[in-house]
Amino acid sequence: MLRARRRPRDERRPPVPRDGAVPDLVAMRRRHVAEVVAIEEQIFPRPWSAALYLSELATPATRAYLVALVDDAVVGYTGAILVAGEAHVTTVGVAPSWQRRGVGIRLLHRLVTEVRERGAQALTLEVRVSNLGAQELYREFGFVPAGIRKNYYPEVNEDGLVMWAYDVDDERYATRLDEIAARIARSADHGTDHGAGPGPGPAPA
Ligand SMILES: CC(C)(COP(=O)(O)OP(=O)(O)OC[C@H]1O[C@@H](n2cnc3c(N)ncnc32)[C@H](O)[C@@H]1OP(=O)(O)O)[C@@H](O)C(=O)NCCC(=O)NCCS
Repeated sequence: MLRARRRPRDERRPPVPRDGAVPDLVAMRRRHVAEVVAIEEQIFPRPWSAALYLSELATPATRAYLVALVDDAVVGYTGAILVAGEAHVTTVGVAPSWQRRGVGIRLLHRLVTEVRERGAQALTLEVRVSNLGAQELYREFGFVPAGIRKNYYPEVNEDGLVMWAYDVDDERYATRLDEIAARIARSADHGTDHGAGPGPGPAPA
Protein backbone atom coordinates (compact mmCIF):
# COMPACT_ATOMS: atom_id res chain seq x y z
CA MET A 1 0.00 0.00 0.00
CA LEU A 2 1.26 3.46 -0.84
CA ARG A 3 1.83 5.72 2.13
CA ALA A 4 1.88 9.51 1.95
CA ARG A 5 5.42 10.69 2.65
CA ARG A 6 5.61 12.95 5.70
CA ARG A 7 6.82 16.37 4.69
CA PRO A 8 10.21 17.38 6.07
CA ARG A 9 9.87 19.99 8.83
CA ASP A 10 11.21 22.90 6.81
CA GLU A 11 8.53 22.29 4.13
CA ARG A 12 5.70 21.87 6.61
CA ARG A 13 2.91 24.45 6.70
CA PRO A 14 0.09 24.95 9.21
CA PRO A 15 -2.83 22.65 8.41
CA VAL A 16 -6.15 24.04 7.23
CA PRO A 17 -7.96 25.30 10.35
CA ARG A 18 -10.83 23.23 11.68
CA ASP A 19 -13.24 23.90 14.51
CA GLY A 20 -12.44 22.19 17.77
CA ALA A 21 -8.75 21.57 16.97
CA VAL A 22 -6.84 21.91 20.23
CA PRO A 23 -3.16 22.65 19.76
CA ASP A 24 -0.45 20.82 21.69
CA LEU A 25 1.79 23.26 23.53
CA VAL A 26 5.41 22.15 23.76
CA ALA A 27 8.81 23.70 24.29
CA MET A 28 10.22 25.18 21.10
CA ARG A 29 13.09 23.09 19.71
CA ARG A 30 15.59 23.77 16.96
CA ARG A 31 13.54 21.59 14.62
CA HIS A 32 10.57 23.98 14.94
CA VAL A 33 12.49 27.12 14.00
CA ALA A 34 12.04 26.94 10.20
CA GLU A 35 8.27 26.75 10.62
CA VAL A 36 8.28 29.52 13.24
CA VAL A 37 10.24 31.82 10.94
CA ALA A 38 7.90 31.05 8.00
CA ILE A 39 4.99 32.32 10.15
CA GLU A 40 7.06 35.19 11.56
CA GLU A 41 7.72 36.48 8.03
CA GLN A 42 3.99 36.61 7.31
CA ILE A 43 2.92 38.47 10.42
CA PHE A 44 5.70 40.80 11.55
CA PRO A 45 7.15 43.85 9.83
CA ARG A 46 10.55 43.09 11.42
CA PRO A 47 10.70 39.29 11.46
CA TRP A 48 13.27 37.51 13.60
CA SER A 49 15.70 35.34 11.71
CA ALA A 50 16.29 31.64 12.28
CA ALA A 51 19.72 32.54 13.69
CA LEU A 52 18.12 34.79 16.28
CA TYR A 53 15.68 32.08 17.38
CA LEU A 54 18.48 29.54 17.54
CA SER A 55 20.54 31.85 19.75
CA GLU A 56 17.52 32.32 22.03
CA LEU A 57 17.11 28.56 22.31
CA ALA A 58 20.79 28.24 23.17
CA THR A 59 20.31 30.05 26.51
CA PRO A 60 17.47 28.10 28.14
CA ALA A 61 18.34 29.21 31.69
CA THR A 62 16.94 32.68 30.96
CA ARG A 63 14.53 31.88 28.16
CA ALA A 64 11.10 30.25 27.77
CA TYR A 65 9.92 29.50 24.23
CA LEU A 66 6.85 27.47 23.26
CA VAL A 67 5.16 26.34 20.08
CA ALA A 68 1.55 25.35 19.43
CA LEU A 69 1.31 22.28 17.22
CA VAL A 70 -1.64 20.94 15.25
CA ASP A 71 -1.03 17.68 13.41
CA ASP A 72 2.59 18.17 14.43
CA ALA A 73 2.87 21.42 12.44
CA VAL A 74 3.55 24.79 14.09
CA VAL A 75 0.52 27.10 14.14
CA GLY A 76 1.80 29.57 16.74
CA TYR A 77 4.60 30.37 19.14
CA THR A 78 5.62 32.63 22.00
CA GLY A 79 8.59 33.31 24.19
CA ALA A 80 10.08 35.34 27.00
CA ILE A 81 13.38 36.38 28.52
CA LEU A 82 13.59 36.03 32.31
CA VAL A 83 15.83 38.39 34.24
CA ALA A 84 15.72 39.18 37.96
CA GLY A 85 12.07 38.37 38.57
CA GLU A 86 10.89 40.05 35.37
CA ALA A 87 9.78 38.26 32.23
CA HIS A 88 9.98 40.19 28.99
CA VAL A 89 7.59 38.64 26.48
CA THR A 90 9.58 38.85 23.25
CA THR A 91 7.07 37.44 20.81
CA VAL A 92 3.59 36.02 20.33
CA GLY A 93 2.64 34.93 16.84
CA VAL A 94 -0.10 32.84 15.30
CA ALA A 95 -0.29 31.74 11.65
CA PRO A 96 -2.74 34.01 9.80
CA SER A 97 -5.25 31.22 9.07
CA TRP A 98 -5.22 30.13 12.75
CA GLN A 99 -5.78 33.54 14.32
CA ARG A 100 -8.84 34.12 16.53
CA ARG A 101 -9.13 30.40 17.27
CA GLY A 102 -7.76 30.48 20.80
CA VAL A 103 -4.15 29.68 19.95
CA GLY A 104 -2.66 32.95 21.23
CA ILE A 105 -4.51 32.87 24.56
CA ARG A 106 -3.45 29.25 25.15
CA LEU A 107 0.18 30.05 24.37
CA LEU A 108 0.24 33.10 26.60
CA HIS A 109 -1.47 31.22 29.43
CA ARG A 110 1.14 28.46 29.30
CA LEU A 111 4.02 30.94 28.98
CA VAL A 112 2.86 33.05 31.92
CA THR A 113 2.31 29.92 34.00
CA GLU A 114 5.84 28.77 33.24
CA VAL A 115 7.57 32.08 33.97
CA ARG A 116 5.64 32.40 37.27
CA GLU A 117 6.88 28.96 38.23
CA ARG A 118 10.37 30.12 37.37
CA GLY A 119 10.10 33.15 39.67
CA ALA A 120 8.65 35.99 37.59
CA GLN A 121 6.92 38.67 39.66
CA ALA A 122 6.24 41.05 36.77
CA LEU A 123 5.77 40.78 33.01
CA THR A 124 6.46 43.32 30.31
CA LEU A 125 6.29 43.64 26.53
CA GLU A 126 6.12 46.16 23.72
CA VAL A 127 3.36 46.23 21.13
CA ARG A 128 2.59 48.53 18.21
CA VAL A 129 0.24 51.28 19.34
CA SER A 130 -2.16 50.38 16.50
CA ASN A 131 -2.20 46.65 17.32
CA LEU A 132 -5.41 46.79 19.33
CA GLY A 133 -6.16 43.09 18.93
CA ALA A 134 -2.93 42.04 20.61
CA GLN A 135 -3.43 44.70 23.32
CA GLU A 136 -6.87 43.26 24.00
CA LEU A 137 -5.31 39.83 24.52
CA TYR A 138 -2.60 41.26 26.80
CA ARG A 139 -5.17 43.12 28.90
CA GLU A 140 -6.79 39.79 29.71
CA PHE A 141 -3.50 38.80 31.31
CA GLY A 142 -3.40 41.96 33.42
CA PHE A 143 -1.07 44.00 31.23
CA VAL A 144 -1.62 47.75 31.50
CA PRO A 145 -0.07 50.53 29.41
CA ALA A 146 2.99 52.03 31.08
CA GLY A 147 4.60 54.26 28.46
CA ILE A 148 5.43 54.89 24.85
CA ARG A 149 8.69 54.12 23.03
CA LYS A 150 8.89 56.64 20.22
CA ASN A 151 9.35 55.09 16.77
CA TYR A 152 10.13 51.71 18.31
CA TYR A 153 9.05 50.13 15.00
CA PRO A 154 10.85 52.32 12.44
CA GLU A 155 10.05 50.00 9.52
CA VAL A 156 6.37 50.89 9.93
CA ASN A 157 7.06 54.29 11.44
CA GLU A 158 5.15 53.45 14.58
CA ASP A 159 5.53 53.94 18.31
CA GLY A 160 5.70 51.04 20.73
CA LEU A 161 3.32 50.83 23.67
CA VAL A 162 5.10 49.44 26.73
CA MET A 163 2.83 47.26 28.87
CA TRP A 164 3.42 45.73 32.30
CA ALA A 165 1.60 43.20 34.43
CA TYR A 166 2.61 43.47 38.09
CA ASP A 167 2.40 41.12 41.08
CA VAL A 168 1.91 38.08 38.91
CA ASP A 169 3.30 35.92 41.71
CA ASP A 170 0.35 36.68 44.01
CA GLU A 171 -2.89 34.78 44.65
CA ARG A 172 -5.08 37.26 42.82
CA TYR A 173 -3.10 36.72 39.67
CA ALA A 174 -3.35 32.94 40.12
CA THR A 175 -7.14 33.39 40.19
CA ARG A 176 -6.95 35.40 36.97
CA LEU A 177 -5.03 32.58 35.30
CA ASP A 178 -7.58 30.04 36.56
CA GLU A 179 -10.38 32.11 35.07
CA ILE A 180 -8.58 32.31 31.72
CA ALA A 181 -8.03 28.53 31.81
CA ALA A 182 -11.74 28.01 32.48
CA ARG A 183 -12.62 30.25 29.55
CA ILE A 184 -10.28 28.29 27.28
CA ALA A 185 -11.81 25.01 28.46
CA ARG A 186 -15.33 26.31 27.85
CA SER A 187 -14.51 27.36 24.31
CA ALA A 188 -12.91 23.94 23.67
CA ASP A 189 -16.02 22.17 25.06
CA HIS A 190 -18.24 24.13 22.74
CA GLY A 191 -15.89 23.44 19.85
CA THR A 192 -15.93 27.14 19.10
CA ASP A 193 -13.25 29.01 17.31
CA HIS A 194 -13.68 32.07 19.56
CA GLY A 195 -16.37 33.53 17.39
CA ALA A 196 -14.24 33.82 14.30
CA GLY A 197 -15.64 33.13 10.90
CA PRO A 198 -13.29 32.13 8.13
CA GLY A 199 -9.71 33.17 8.94
CA PRO A 200 -9.40 36.94 9.33
CA GLY A 201 -6.01 37.08 7.62
CA PRO A 202 -2.89 38.64 8.99
CA ALA A 203 -3.05 41.31 11.65
CA PRO A 204 -2.11 44.74 10.32
CA ALA A 205 1.67 44.91 10.14
C1 LIG B 1 -2.22 38.87 18.37
C2 LIG B 1 -2.25 37.35 18.21
C3 LIG B 1 -1.01 36.74 18.79
C4 LIG B 1 -3.50 36.82 18.94
O1 LIG B 1 -3.54 35.40 18.81
P1 LIG B 1 -4.90 34.68 18.39
O2 LIG B 1 -4.68 33.23 18.42
O3 LIG B 1 -5.36 35.27 17.11
O4 LIG B 1 -5.86 35.15 19.57
P2 LIG B 1 -6.95 34.30 20.37
O5 LIG B 1 -7.87 33.64 19.41
O6 LIG B 1 -6.27 33.43 21.34
O7 LIG B 1 -7.72 35.49 21.10
C5 LIG B 1 -7.99 35.47 22.49
C6 LIG B 1 -8.62 36.79 22.86
O8 LIG B 1 -7.72 37.88 22.63
C7 LIG B 1 -8.44 39.01 22.10
N1 LIG B 1 -8.07 39.22 20.69
C8 LIG B 1 -7.15 38.50 19.97
N2 LIG B 1 -7.04 39.01 18.73
C9 LIG B 1 -7.89 40.04 18.66
C10 LIG B 1 -8.24 40.96 17.63
N3 LIG B 1 -7.66 40.93 16.40
N4 LIG B 1 -9.14 41.92 17.90
C11 LIG B 1 -9.73 42.00 19.11
N5 LIG B 1 -9.47 41.14 20.14
C12 LIG B 1 -8.56 40.18 19.91
C13 LIG B 1 -9.91 38.62 22.19
O9 LIG B 1 -10.35 38.97 23.49
C14 LIG B 1 -9.83 37.13 22.02
O10 LIG B 1 -10.93 36.44 22.54
P3 LIG B 1 -12.24 36.19 21.60
O11 LIG B 1 -11.74 35.67 20.28
O12 LIG B 1 -13.05 35.21 22.37
O13 LIG B 1 -12.88 37.54 21.43
C15 LIG B 1 -2.38 36.95 16.70
O14 LIG B 1 -3.53 37.55 16.16
C16 LIG B 1 -1.17 37.32 15.86
O15 LIG B 1 -0.24 36.53 15.72
N6 LIG B 1 -1.18 38.53 15.26
C17 LIG B 1 -0.08 38.96 14.41
C18 LIG B 1 1.20 39.14 15.18
C19 LIG B 1 1.02 40.04 16.37
O16 LIG B 1 0.41 41.12 16.27
N7 LIG B 1 1.58 39.61 17.49
C20 LIG B 1 1.61 40.39 18.71
C21 LIG B 1 2.78 41.31 18.62
S1 LIG B 1 3.11 42.17 20.12
